[in-house]
Amino acid sequence: MSSSIVTGAAGFIGSHLSEQLLKLGENVVGIDNFDPWYNPKTKESNLSAVTTSESFSLFRENILSMDLTEILEPGDVIYHLAARPGVQDSWGSGFAASVENNVLVTQKVFEAALTCGVRRVVFASSSSVYGASATNEMKSVAPISPYGVSKAACEQLADVYRGRGLDIVAMRYFTVYGPRQRPDMAMNRLFRAALPGSFRFPLRGNGSQRREFTFVKDIVDATIRAANSNLESVSEPFDVGGGISASLGEVMSLVEEITGMTLRIDPEPSAAGDPLITVATTEFTEKTLNWKATTSLREGLLEHYDSLRESVSSST
Ligand SMILES: NC(=O)c1ccc[n+]([C@@H]2O[C@H](COP(=O)([O-])OP(=O)(O)OC[C@H]3O[C@@H](n4cnc5c(N)ncnc54)[C@H](O)[C@@H]3O)[C@@H](O)[C@H]2O)c1
Repeated sequence: MSSSIVTGAAGFIGSHLSEQLLKLGENVVGIDNFDPWYNPKTKESNLSAVTTSESFSLFRENILSMDLTEILEPGDVIYHLAARPGVQDSWGSGFAASVENNVLVTQKVFEAALTCGVRRVVFASSSSVYGASATNEMKSVAPISPYGVSKAACEQLADVYRGRGLDIVAMRYFTVYGPRQRPDMAMNRLFRAALPGSFRFPLRGNGSQRREFTFVKDIVDATIRAANSNLESVSEPFDVGGGISASLGEVMSLVEEITGMTLRIDPEPSAAGDPLITVATTEFTEKTLNWKATTSLREGLLEHYDSLRESVSSST
């Protein structure tokens, strides 16, 4: 039986994806090195719903130091999500980790997939490849952060390996939120700055920056559809956006309304590499994958908040 290989399975999106693939009856092989960039215990708990499944196995290894060809079989699908995400940490010496875990790891995954006759690789790219070009009529790949550059390089590697016959689909995810969101991301930080405790939200800039927010279950749905769509190798990347545009200030108000609490905020200067706005163009994704994001920002935030409260109360 062929398998679904999920790299980055213990991460935010990878754990949801693994869970959904198991629900669909797939045999799932997770790969994750539990990178201590954020707490590995959080990653353990991300996986708690899948580790009991007999159809799930896990390699706790760094992709760079393992032999992927020993795992991959012809016909497998690889969902390649493992990466060093995060725009701010990619500046300065942080770029070495972006290059290593994004560019080098991705090249290794593509090479092994080609060698082993994998059916398709679905690659998690990012809206960060657009940089500040989001509002242009013709959006272009023009990253404004080292992280965005690393993802753009991965997309170019995808083109190169597609040229050698490997079926690769690139998904440009737009600001993903929901239960288990990475601790460095805004919604997670906002809820923690509202819940009792000492955590304060570092508000970079004046809160007018707008994002296209995408609920994690909608991301997972598009990703699985991309793996199973009938098309010949699609070279055009898919924008995967939730159809919700909100400013950070609007999200802050919504978080205060949902929690009934006042946020503890530390004002900070705007951050380099953060575009003022991100906008997904999803017509191609919707038409090709017969997909549409269905979760409203309020619904998604409520689910996010419920799961965060649960994890806080179970850890105290
Ligand atoms: N979360 C978002 O809003 C968002 C937006 C755009 C793109 N993406 C992309 O989606 C993917 C998943 O993001 P996420 O938010 O779930 O991040 P995450 O950090 O929660 O998950 C990534 C996982 O990859 C693992 N990993 C990293 N390097 C590895 C290596 N060398 N070998 C094995 N495992 C390794 C980490 O331990 C981690 O568990 C990433 O590729 C990210 O760039 C995320």
